[in-house]
Amino acid sequence: MSVNILGIETSCDETAAGVVADGRVLMSNVISSQIDLHAKYGGVVPELASRQHVRDLIPVLEQAATDADLSLEDMDAIAVTYGPGLAGSLITGVNAAKAISYSLGIPLIGVNHLEGHIYASWLTKTELEKDPGFPLACLVASGGHTDLLLMEGHGKYKLVGRTRDDAAGEAFDKAARILGLGFPGGPEIQRVSAGANGEEDLPRAWMKGTLDFSFSGIKTALLHIAQDRGLYPSPENGVDTERLIRELAAAFQESVVDVLSAKLIEMASKYKANGLVLGGGVTANARLRKEITKRSHLPVIIPPPILCTDNGAMIAACGYFQYERGDQTPMNIDVNPGLPLG
Ligand SMILES: Nc1ncnc2c1ncn2[C@@H]1O[C@H](COP(=O)(O)OP(=O)(O)OP(=O)(O)O)[C@@H](O)[C@H]1O
Ligand SMILES: [Mg+2]
Repeated sequence: MSVNILGIETSCDETAAGVVADGRVLMSNVISSQIDLHAKYGGVVPELASRQHVRDLIPVLEQAATDADLSLEDMDAIAVTYGPGLAGSLITGVNAAKAISYSLGIPLIGVNHLEGHIYASWLTKTELEKDPGFPLACLVASGGHTDLLLMEGHGKYKLVGRTRDDAAGEAFDKAARILGLGFPGGPEIQRVSAGANGEEDLPRAWMKGTLDFSFSGIKTALLHIAQDRGLYPSPENGVDTERLIRELAAAFQESVVDVLSAKLIEMASKYKANGLVLGGGVTANARLRKEITKRSHLPVIIPPPILCTDNGAMIAACGYFQYERGDQTPMNIDVNPGLPLG
């Protein structure tokens, strides 16, 4: 008999639930994105996000069970993100999980969202086929975080590098805004960069002697170039807007990809890791995936793009390993918007 875990994720603007068997087999993954709701504001509006989770959560949960061909009674435990994230959004998921745990008499497992991003890799085929073993060098690059974590075993992390200012995803979103592209910015920058010349010289903040990142300088440099070339705040007459946007987007992407790839590989070598693990929305980026795979001589585990951005299956996968360790969460658990990892 397999162990079925239902995972709930509501830390930001995706209402998501997924079922995973034995921590590795993806049974279902249902995501209701609020992108359209927030796009007109250029970012996530916390109160609107919480209220949309309240509307969407029950249908999403029902769909996750149906897609897995199971009922809620077939679940062995319920895993839920309790931080980090937006407090009001987290509360909706945690309260639903408590109700399910209480009514079905199954364990409640509180999961760290960032750890969930790492465990999305346990759902990928490559990991199943070729398990490199610990320690693993992990990059979590998302809308709110850019962390380098040494994973020494299940549930054992050491934070060895982090951004000192903007997260990589936040930088993608701000760069897209400067270039007049839509929200979220990462996929838009990737789209317009395809086939474009990315040779425009943008700075890279190497933060020498550390494994830390800084992305705010690249963003400011992009802003100054966009102003100098007559693209920002609104395009001047005679400017080849389309070509300029494509070239600047590609240059920005190259700059971020270069730093992320170099630092992850430096970390893997410094800590003698056996493999690289990527997670978080930015690791859906095709250029980043290609570049890290090209530069690394170690196995690189990257979830498919749909498991890089927020989802419930990654929370279920992570919850399974906590369940196996007997790591249950008391019913009076509160959300923790600033929950650290490592
Ligand atoms: N193809 C892509 N290229 C670059 N960035 C991307 C891509 N797809 C998504 N992103 C970025 O990923 C971010 C969203 O990722 P994710 O959903 O993991 O973040 P989050 O959950 O909001 O933040 P956190 O995980 O830190 O709490 C956005 O900033 C978005 O622009
Ligand atoms: Mg996330």
